[in-house]
Amino acid sequence: MDRTAVRDMEERDLERVAEIEALSFSSPWSIEAFRKELRENSLAVYLVCEIDGELAGYMGMWKVVDEGHVTNVAVDPKFRGMGVGNELLSEMVIRARESNLVSMTLEVRVSNVQAIGLYKKHGFKDVGTRPKYYDNGEDAIIMWKTL
Ligand SMILES: CC(C)(COP(=O)(O)OP(=O)(O)OC[C@H]1O[C@@H](n2cnc3c(N)ncnc32)[C@H](O)[C@@H]1OP(=O)(O)O)[C@@H](O)C(=O)NCCC(=O)NCCS
Repeated sequence: MDRTAVRDMEERDLERVAEIEALSFSSPWSIEAFRKELRENSLAVYLVCEIDGELAGYMGMWKVVDEGHVTNVAVDPKFRGMGVGNELLSEMVIRARESNLVSMTLEVRVSNVQAIGLYKKHGFKDVGTRPKYYDNGEDAIIMWKTL
């Protein structure tokens, strides 16, 4: 693979992050929402992954007491399947351990086989569902990983 690097998200990244967000989700977060997170949410961790200097994807997590709640992860469609999601989640698990979190959790659409595959690869287990969690009526799978 080309050279990848994971680092903390900065405000200069936000236009590109919002672009990838819009390419990835039917109800994308706005650039202002990401900016507010970076400026005001001291419990949030946001990472980006670059491939040869180009921002390819990002991931966010909220530290809620001793749990890490993954808020979002997305990779530019042109860079999917190249290991960017793996790099981001590996680093997020390291950050969670460094913060003494005991577990990580997230929700994912039942139809999202790519994301479910990514999470399972990193040890997340399916622990339940939230019926009709998404705006189109789709159920969410709740996934959990003990650190
Ligand atoms: C989910 C997503 C972040 C994965 O990122 P990615 O960089 O393409 O993933 P990677 O190349 O690092 O692959 C990591 C693992 O994910 C799974 N995966 C990735 N693409 C897959 C596919 N097309 N089919 C099945 N599993 C897949 C595999 O388990 C893979 O591990 P492997 O390479 O050993 O097979 C990306 O598909 C994406 O941005 N999707 C749209 C946004 C989204 O749905 N986010 C999650 C919301 S909960």
